[in-house]
Amino acid sequence: MGTPTIDRPSQEAAKVLADPTAYADDKRLHTALAHLRADEPVAWVDHGPYRPFWAITKHADIMAIERANDLFLSAPRPLLVTAEADDLGKSQQEAGIGLRTLIHMDDPHHRKVRAIGADWFRPKAMRDLKVRVDELAKRYVDRMRDIGPECDFVTDIAVNFPLYVILSLLGLPEEDFGRMHMLTQEMFGGDDDEYKRGTTPEEQLAVLTDFFNYFAALTASRREHPTDDLASAIANGLVDGEPMSDMDTLSYYVIVASAGHDTTKDAISGGLHALIENPDQLARLKNDPGLMGTAVEEMIRWTTPVKEFMRTAAEDTTVRGVPIAKGESVYLAYVSGNRDEEVFADPFAFDVGRDPNKHLSFGYGVHFCLGAALARMEMNSLFTELLPRLESIESAGPAELSATTFVGGLKHLPVRYSLR
Ligand code: HEM
Repeated sequence: MGTPTIDRPSQEAAKVLADPTAYADDKRLHTALAHLRADEPVAWVDHGPYRPFWAITKHADIMAIERANDLFLSAPRPLLVTAEADDLGKSQQEAGIGLRTLIHMDDPHHRKVRAIGADWFRPKAMRDLKVRVDELAKRYVDRMRDIGPECDFVTDIAVNFPLYVILSLLGLPEEDFGRMHMLTQEMFGGDDDEYKRGTTPEEQLAVLTDFFNYFAALTASRREHPTDDLASAIANGLVDGEPMSDMDTLSYYVIVASAGHDTTKDAISGGLHALIENPDQLARLKNDPGLMGTAVEEMIRWTTPVKEFMRTAAEDTTVRGVPIAKGESVYLAYVSGNRDEEVFADPFAFDVGRDPNKHLSFGYGVHFCLGAALARMEMNSLFTELLPRLESIESAGPAELSATTFVGGLKHLPVRYSLR
């Protein structure tokens, strides 16, 4: 898997992509990425505890690779994890006990499995869910008012709202909130000391086991008593007329519960932070709520909560003229694509009216984020509720980013405000 056929010098600037702490330091990260886009857009990285990979930093190359989903496959290396975790994952797959979510799969199986949950993310389902999402947005803005005049916007508000939305869509009881919250943080914050459960792959694997145990009980109950929710659709889903394997069923819950939560939290909290840092844009949006659609899109581009996905070449090929051998992996640096000077005018400006905004935060092609419409709706509801009631807001301490190579954003956003 991804074994290099020739010895290549690892390119210095690209090493930031194999360093979780670089993602907690915007300046360091973006200086290196700007250099890569200009001089080494297809860069070889052999660094740290990871197997080597090609860093792809140009918007057009990321899209072209995602479009060529027969040539660049998600299996066997959909994400950057340490070589040790890669090996563990591989032996678990072989033993039939590994996590296998949509992001690990390729067509035609991927398409069939994706179809099982897809109806729950279409416009009709979104319209049905909107009342609940608006209600939750109001609940959290009220909460922010009640605990004011200061709060940590990330831990007090942004983290809870999307989790409640996802639990509602799945049809899970509210009392399970605390447990799901902890598990998703442990799973996605695996590189960050504040979140991770332990340091060994075995300890991190225990997080998955906890997820599995919870959802195994849920599947059994929804198979016995189907209800009208996403959890029932997953539990009773068929592929080629057959029920999904236990592992595919459990993996489906894991991807929905985890992908739908931390990502949206990161976009919401990073979005508010950008508005605080750019008071002219905050004033502009408050004065013209018709900009909410483009503002939400800009927050999603600006924060790029999912930093990367990977693909592995099924055949020898080239990207931008650089030969990529069969079995080598490419790292799709969404964070870089979203600041590509060739695509975005003034990419380092936060512009609530940016249009067009062809960001890559939701990926592209057959794996395009299943929950994109939901994430947009949640953010729209929250900021539509918050902004008209917000009389003032300012930073009340340092905003801290998480160390990660995968999903991340602000860990803390202390704010002082006056809210009606
Ligand atoms: C701002 C918030 C979000 C961001 C930035 C985001 C980002 C992404 C990205 C980058 C991908 C991979 C796309 C690719 O490989 O081309 C993805 C896939 C996915 N997302 Fe999201 N996501 C967000 C919210 C959500 C929500 C709310 C859900 C709801 C459950 C969700 C569910 C999924 C699922 C199930 C997949 C796998 C799709 C597949 O492989 O076919 N995401 N997301």
